[in-house]
Order: sequence, then C-alpha cells, then structure tokens
Amino acid sequence: MRTIVKNGNVITSNDEFRGDILIENGKITGIGSFVPGEGDQVIDAAGRYVFPGGVDQHTHFSALCNSGDKDTAGYESTDAVIVGGTTTIVDYAPQDPGKGLLDSIDYRINVRAKGKTCVDYTLHAMITDIMDCIFEEVKDLPKNGISSIKCFMAYKDSPLHVDDGTLYKILRNSRDVGVTVFVHGENGELIDRFQRDCVKAGHIEPKYHAVSRPPFVEGEGTARAIYLANKAGTPLYVAHVTCQDAIDEIVKARGRNQRVMGETCTHYLTVTKKALENEDFLEASKYVCSPALRDEAELENLWNALNDGTLNAIVSDHCGIDLEMKKQGLESFTLIPNGSPGAGDRIHVIWAKGVMTGKITKQKFVQLIATNPAKINGIYPQKGDIVIGADADLVIFDPDYRGEIRWADCPNGVDYNVYEGEPLLGRVDTVLLRGEVVVENAKFVGQYGQGRFIPAKPYAAAYVGL
Ligand code: URP
Ligand code: ZN
Ligand code: ZN
Repeated sequence: MRTIVKNGNVITSNDEFRGDILIENGKITGIGSFVPGEGDQVIDAAGRYVFPGGVDQHTHFSALCNSGDKDTAGYESTDAVIVGGTTTIVDYAPQDPGKGLLDSIDYRINVRAKGKTCVDYTLHAMITDIMDCIFEEVKDLPKNGISSIKCFMAYKDSPLHVDDGTLYKILRNSRDVGVTVFVHGENGELIDRFQRDCVKAGHIEPKYHAVSRPPFVEGEGTARAIYLANKAGTPLYVAHVTCQDAIDEIVKARGRNQRVMGETCTHYLTVTKKALENEDFLEASKYVCSPALRDEAELENLWNALNDGTLNAIVSDHCGIDLEMKKQGLESFTLIPNGSPGAGDRIHVIWAKGVMTGKITKQKFVQLIATNPAKINGIYPQKGDIVIGADADLVIFDPDYRGEIRWADCPNGVDYNVYEGEPLLGRVDTVLLRGEVVVENAKFVGQYGQGRFIPAKPYAAAYVGL
C-alpha cells in the first residue's frame, strides 16, 4: 500500500516547503506533489508542519538494572517518547553484573527491550565494570551494530567511574575501529571533595548538589578528556554540556583542528538551578541531575553554542527515576539518584522555548533534534531527515495547539514531570514510524514491541563531520 502525507508544510534540516510525501513499504519514496491512486492511504497534513521523527541520542531506560535497587522506567514507557514525537532513541547499555559490554548489549536487545519498545533504537555501550575483556570488546562493537561507548569521569568510587588510564585505552582502541567515545566530563575527585565539605558543614539539601559541582569541575573534566583524546588521536563527543567553561574547551580544541563535538540537554537550556533551591526537599530533588543545573547566563551561552555549531544536538538524558527513589536522598543530596525524565517532552519544550522565541530556526530545530543525532550515531540517512530512501518516520505537528505540559498526558514512566505547567505552543498530533501511524490525535495507537534495533555504522560524524 502507498501512503501520501498531503499538503503539509514540510520542514527538513535545510528547507521548508508545502508538499506531499509519498511512502511505500515504510520508506520515503517521493517528495513533491502526488495524485492519490485507488487504494492509497491519504493523510491530510494541511495547516500543519511535517518534520522528521526525533532522534534522542541520550536516554537511560532500564538503566539501574544492576544496582540491586529499583530500576529506572523500562522500555514500555517509550510510548510517551513516541507521543512526544521522538521515533528513535540511542539508549545507554550499562554492563550487567559480571558481564562484558557485548553480552550486556545482547541481553538488552533480546530480553530487556524485546516486546516492549515503542520507538526504534540503537545503543551506546556503557562501562560500569572495568573488566579486562572490555578493551578488546570495544573493537568488536561495530560488528555488533554499536558505534559508540560512554565513559563516566564524574562518579568517584562508583562502578560507573572510568579512570584516566582506562579512558585513554578505550580511546585508543575505539580509534582503530571508528567507535565514537562519549564522555561525561566532570572531575570526580573535585566533586568528591566538595560533597564531603558540604555534608560536613551540614549542607545536605538538594541545592548543594549544584554547589558541589560548579562549572569549572565540568570545564576541567572536559579539558582533560579532550587532551587525552588528542594524544590518542581519537575524535571525542562530550555528553550533556552545561556551561561556558566546557564550551570554551571545545572551541579551543576545534581551533587546533581537533575533532570534538558536544550535545546539551533540554533542561540545561530551559531550567536553572533555582529549581534546586525549592524549600520542599523532594520537589527540589526532581532536578538533581549531573552535571548540575546552572544559572540564567549559561542558558544563553548554550543557545549561542548551538547556533554557532559548537554544540550539535539537544538530548533529554532521560532517567525515569520516580519520587519514591529520590527519597533515598532525604538524609543528604549525595544520596539522591541522579537524573530527570524528559524524553517525551524534548520536542515540545524545544519548539516552545527555542523556535517560538526565535532562538533557533525551524531548520536548526530539525538538525538538533533529529538529523545531527542520526549522523553522530551512524544511523543517517535511514533516520533523522526527510529524504528519499529514509525510513518514513514523520511527525505531523499542529502549530496552533495551545495548552500546557501535564504529567497525565505524558507520564514518561515516572510519577512526575519536571516540565509540568510549561506552555505547549503547538503539539505533536500524528506520528508515523516506518510509514505506520502510531500516534493519532496525540494518543499512542501503536503496538508495544513495534520498535526495532537499528544497527549503527562506525566512523560516524565525530570522525567525518556532519
Ligand atoms: O544525572 C544524570 N545525567 N544521570 C544519568 C547518568 C549520566 O551521567 O548521564
Ligand atoms: Zn553522564
Ligand atoms: Zn545520561
């Protein structure tokens, strides 16, 4: 069967025009003007925007599966993600207990995600146990459809922490096979010292989360990762950049022709550390994520860095940690599980706070929420733009809708929404995944388990440019 999405205002990564999109066998096979034939399915998009389904390259579904604690929300909660207009995620795959990178990835695809996922997905390998085998396994990631790995420099004394020696070795081995190394570039030693000092002084409230990880902690971690990547001769991708200190390090590196890219997150662009100062401990703990939220001036710095191309993706860093779990931190902010939900809200928030305020153009919006993440993760042109031959992952967006973000409409698998009450200046109305309508009138009408694993290709944008 052929499907024609008719008369929409089509927004691509570099264009905007009124036209039709022809879909056959789940792929985009025509862009232009098409007369429907007998039996064709016609979707009227008049008066609405049509843009590519979002690609969120930083999510943590079912991420605490190894901690012996309650897990973060699982893949079934990606129904909210697709209702929010994101059709592909690049999810993190932490090592399972006693397992290497590859077995953990295999288990995630074939057990954790299977039958549940509503979005297409690929994975980042993620080190949570520095076993001898991981150094060789990095070289085999591309054969298994994985083209990236994340190293955390921030969490001293936690299984997540990757020391500098390990980071350097991972960088070297990744270079040989075109794997993109993502770093969480905060200095774990400094954070540890500042956290101890805060607690000793009786400063246990969530606002001290930001006090104990000031911007220079991120600047130093980013600088060190860039230095090691330079010595290893490997491109680097800096995850969740929040401040000018880190931006400056990326700019300096680019200035000497080093290949360094970076992303920021919806919340760093739109929420300040004032949210951590709420007198209600639990309310404030919803915003405990790392790096910490910053002040107003940094929001502007980040928008500027997106516009000048220093940063090239906006991600959610979605962690479905519910309030019950956040209560672990009532004794001290250092015990609050880090991370906030938001994969279902990313597109609505960035449209309202980025496009509608004139901070970014509609084309830049598409680049940041879809095209660049697809290129960075080796899944372009299958994903990330409206081009002939791509998967027909499309969002039909009603620009006239007015309302507000409500947890009840987008639960994200957790019991709160950090964007509650924020304005909806337009809304995702219909979503097609590989040509199938899976969201209609802003409601999920697809199947749990419809999401497919998309193998990622190595030597992606960090190596070859966007
Ligand atoms: O606070 C955050 N970001 N939690 C998720 C883990 C990470 O550092 O990305
Ligand atoms: Zn991180
Ligand atoms: Zn993260």
